[in-house]
This record gives sequence, C-alpha cells and structure tokens, in this order.
Amino acid sequence: MSNVGIISLGHYLPQRRLTNSDLEKMVDTTDEWITTRTGIKERRVASQGEKTSTLATLAAEEAIKNAGIDPETIDLIIVATVSPDSNFPSMACRVQRAIGAKNATAFDISAACAGYLYALTTAKQYIQSKFYKTALVIAAERITSLIDWKDRNTCVLFGDGAGACILSQVDGPGIISEYLHSEGELGDLMSVVSDESREPLSQEEMMIKMPYVVMQGKELFKVAVNSMSDAIEIAAKKAKINLSDIACVVPHQANDRIISAVAKKLEIPKEKIFVNIDRYGNMSAASIAVALYEAVDQKHIRKGDHVALVAFGAGLVSAASVFVW
Ligand code: ACO
Repeated sequence: MSNVGIISLGHYLPQRRLTNSDLEKMVDTTDEWITTRTGIKERRVASQGEKTSTLATLAAEEAIKNAGIDPETIDLIIVATVSPDSNFPSMACRVQRAIGAKNATAFDISAACAGYLYALTTAKQYIQSKFYKTALVIAAERITSLIDWKDRNTCVLFGDGAGACILSQVDGPGIISEYLHSEGELGDLMSVVSDESREPLSQEEMMIKMPYVVMQGKELFKVAVNSMSDAIEIAAKKAKINLSDIACVVPHQANDRIISAVAKKLEIPKEKIFVNIDRYGNMSAASIAVALYEAVDQKHIRKGDHVALVAFGAGLVSAASVFVW
C-alpha cells in the first residue's frame, strides 16, 4: 500500500460580494442578527456567466499550476457538488474538457457539505490501490442558485466558491485516516424542494422559483455539533493520535456557533480551528476546500502538522479526514 497525500491546492471565489447590509434591503433581517447567530458578514455570489463548472475549472487550474503537472497526466477527476450546471454532462467531464485532461476518468459525487471529504477519500482509494496515479479533486458550488431569496431563514447563510487539490503518492505519511458516515433517515432536515416533490401544486406555488433549499435549522444545529465531534474523534482514533496532536482543524463552515460548540465539546482551543465563514458563508462542499487553501496560505498549517478536516451536511452525512501536511 502506498501513502497518498495532497500535493497542491487551488481555489476560486467569485468577485461579487453580498453583504449583510445588502440582505437587509432584500428580506426582514439585520446585520446584527446574522452576525450573532451565524458569524457571517458577507458571502460571494457567482455572476451570470459564472457557472459551477466555471468555478470548478478556475480552482482546478490553480491546483494544476501549483503542482507543476501536465493536465494530460491526470488519471482521475472527481467533482463534489450539489449545484451542477445541469444533470449531465457531469461537472467532472466539463472540467476535463476545459483543462484538456484527455486521459482522465471523470465523475461527480453528491454528498452536500461533506462532498469534498467523500471525494478525497474516494480518490485516495484509487491511488492507494495503484489503479490510478494522479487525481484532481474539486469541490465547487453555485449554491446561491438553489436559494429562495425571499426566505430569510436560508438566504443569509449561503455563498458560492470552489476549491481543488491534486492527490498522488507521497513519501511522507499523507492522509492517515478517514471516516465517512450517512444517516438517510434524517434527510428531511435539509433538502432541495423541486417541482416533482411539491404536492399539491397550487397556482400560487407555481409562481415560486424551483428548486430551492429548505431546512430545519435548530434540529440541524444539534445534529451538526454531535456528528462533527464524533467524526473528529473517530478519525483521530483511527489515525492513532490524540486530539491535542492536531495542529489545525478545518471544519465545514455552516455556522460559527456550531464550530465553537464542537471546539468546546472536544476541548480543542478555538485558535486551532480555522474559520473563514465571516467572508464566505456556507459554500456547501466548497467550504472546506477553500478553508484548507486559506489555512495553508495564511500559515495556520505548516509542513509536518497533523490536520483534521471535518464536515457535516444534508443527507444527512458527516465525514472527517486526518493527514500530515
Ligand atoms: N433575520 C432575522 N431573523 C431571523 C432570520 C434572519 N435572517 N432567520 C430566522 N429568523 C428568526 C426566526 O424566524 C425566529 O423568529 P421567531 O422566534 O419569531 O420564530 C428567530 O429568528 C429564531 O430562529 P431560530 O431558528 O431559533 O434561530 P437559531 O438561533 O437556531 O439560528 C440558524 C438559525 C442560523 C439557521 C441555526 O439554527 C443554524 O445555523 N442551524 C444549522 C444550519 C446548518 O447547519 N445548515 C446547513 C448544514 S448542511 C449544508 O450545509 C448543505
């Protein structure tokens, strides 16, 4: 078995910023409510020409450049997304075409906010088993296209973005443990309402833009704290390390209060946890991918550090991964 690790990172964030004061003009909300309940100050929103595949391609191009590899040497492309341009072609096939990775196998993964970790773990298995040598893993979301902009319960929370990495065999330990978990029975806590799932279909409802995100925030909050705490503990145990050995935790950025509650529950100092939700909101699968990029870029993660990625999302799903940077 070979060691598999992340050899480079990339990211892309749309230029357009939507601040809390912009939202005050759109729905009955305040900067104070959003900041104290979520930690979010602003989020990015893709402009009309920026599709999910555009964000994914731009993040991928940076990861490829940083790895210094030729796109034709990429064997596998996996894109984690719940907001694809269309059902098909897959985002991964669209990226393959855009970057000229003509020798790659390409497919998408749908695991909501845990999608990046599901994709990383999947790609790792292919490389560890020597089926493939080099993988491009991308998490890209244009989740704002699934938002009901009249619903203050959800529209203040989300933003668009993409992150990417190149995975290959490494000399060091690389990724040392991972944990994936799914609880389909809790799926109704957060879902995308589409025309097919609406019943009855009244004239008034037909005027509402479909599909859009609905969620039971309070219930999700509790499940998020417990499942992310469990995921970190299980992944650390599998990695045979103590929580105190982890130099940096990069969590899914759904709510700063969820992140603080996880830190408190596991007695991890908050300064060891990377948070950028204030600038981007919840970017679903792309949150961890962008946060990891920024944590490395801002030197919160240094060579040799133990790092834990942890996610929770609609499905419900949760996941964690521990690696040595
Ligand atoms: N502005 C002002 N008031 C609001 C807003 C808003 N944007 N949104 C809701 N409110 C109101 C509610 O209507 C409610 O009013 P009421 O008391 O008169 O009924 C009041 O604020 C309190 O609402 P709560 O739901 O109790 O607020 P809470 O403190 O739970 O915060 C939040 C809500 C931020 C959604 C929180 O529950 C949360 O973050 N939950 C987890 C969400 C999550 O993790 N989602 C995604 C995970 S999966 C994925 O990312 C794909």
